[in-house]
Amino acid sequence: MLFRRFKNCIKLNKYQTRTCCSSVEEPKGPSVKTPIPGPNSKKLQGELHKIHYSETIQLFINYVKSIGNYLVDADGNVILDTYTQISAAPLGYNHPELLKVFKNDDNLKRLINRPALGLFPGDDYPERVKNVFSQIAPCLPKIYLMMCGACANENAFKHMFVSYQLKKRGGRPFTEEEKTSAVLNKPPGCPNLTILSFHNAFLGRTFACLAATHSKFIQKVDLPSIDWPAAHFPIYKYPLEENMRENKEEDRKCLAEVEDLMAKYEKKGTPVAGVVVEPLQSEAGNYEASPKFFQQLQKIVKKNNAYLLFDEVQTGGGASGKFWFHEHFDLETPPDVITFAKKFQLGGYFHSEELTPDVPYRIFNTWMGDPGKLMLLEVIIKVMREQNLLETVQKAGKRLKCGLHQFESEFPNLVYSVRGVGTLLAFDAKDENMRNEFMKKLLNKGVLVGNCGYKGIRFRPALTFDESHVDIFLDKFREVLKEINNDCVRL
Ligand SMILES: Cc1ncc(COP(=O)(O)O)c(C=O)c1O
Repeated sequence: MLFRRFKNCIKLNKYQTRTCCSSVEEPKGPSVKTPIPGPNSKKLQGELHKIHYSETIQLFINYVKSIGNYLVDADGNVILDTYTQISAAPLGYNHPELLKVFKNDDNLKRLINRPALGLFPGDDYPERVKNVFSQIAPCLPKIYLMMCGACANENAFKHMFVSYQLKKRGGRPFTEEEKTSAVLNKPPGCPNLTILSFHNAFLGRTFACLAATHSKFIQKVDLPSIDWPAAHFPIYKYPLEENMRENKEEDRKCLAEVEDLMAKYEKKGTPVAGVVVEPLQSEAGNYEASPKFFQQLQKIVKKNNAYLLFDEVQTGGGASGKFWFHEHFDLETPPDVITFAKKFQLGGYFHSEELTPDVPYRIFNTWMGDPGKLMLLEVIIKVMREQNLLETVQKAGKRLKCGLHQFESEFPNLVYSVRGVGTLLAFDAKDENMRNEFMKKLLNKGVLVGNCGYKGIRFRPALTFDESHVDIFLDKFREVLKEINNDCVRL
């Protein structure tokens, strides 16, 4: 049995019991009727592809039947979802508390009459924003709401530039030259400022976000870009405990490069106004860095009079076991800006008092968020608190990491470099082909996992993914590893 195999892990019930931690009635486990993707998914993809490029689609889902941590696909397969819409479904599917939100007529009217919030917000809006965000504010007093992660980052970059220039002008009004040159994309109105980011960063797919993104070529190739500096982000050797000296040296080298680049760009006349960093580089490989690295980075940024932006689009919202990932870093002061999206259902960012704009329309768009999503977020946060879901994440993450480490020692040629925090975990396969084989076999046993980088498998489950779901995954993955191991022995 599973428990005996994982001696160091916390003991738990086996997975016959199936009321998940957030009191959602779930299936007892995955059940697979057809190869996945099945005939219905394939047919739907063919139809959609005639009018909408659909090569990225993995499966078509029946969102009416999906429940809790389980997706039901168009062929009736019940699949344990450890990827949850790229980390964006905090309570899984059809949570009963969320289903209630729009049964209220007032809420329904607020949903269908979508306002231009920068001009005509609803009379309930200030109270709602205050209620929701005061509960989760990361020690930063102000907020802007946006649509998605890229939209949040794009506007946060603008915001840092605006504040940097405001500080430089010392509050004086714009000159005529600044006004006329700005409209023509020329300095001094459009100053030569830069954002520093990191190799392997993924910050979204709009133009400025892409200029600071350095993960996969396919996201960038053919698109004009900007000369913004990129320093290396630490790539650690695993296991961490056995490679402390090398990893510390890796931190030192990366930080030295940040300092060098900031000096170089200042000298070139294109100073760095803001540094953007993910607390865990998710898309590119789940690359983590030490609290010391982030503490030092903050010091360097402050020394250079730039702003520090943490992109918590993928890491914010509880999956690290704390509400914000950067809370693990014990920073001297909060960062200047923190962006979010995904689990929050809408995008946005918190910022410090110092970054408050001096004139209107510096940051603006039609919708500036979405009151409907805000209503859902209100309930998500309530459920997180009532069900103590941060603790669920901590326990599930510990058990999952422990199980993966066990596989690392049992199958040393198949599982490498287990890493991450909370349930934001990942490991590497030997190469891309083997990673894809793992994913395919797992899916056909009814478990969906995500990929990251070129050979990584990434977990991004719901906050309701508990230790019993972990056990289901570990059982299925053990079957996969044994099958692949036996195939290797036979060859
Ligand atoms: C760290 C990070 N930033 C930004 C984004 C972009 O978010 P969106 O896809 O909502 O634009 C992502 C998306 O995966 C992300 O992981």
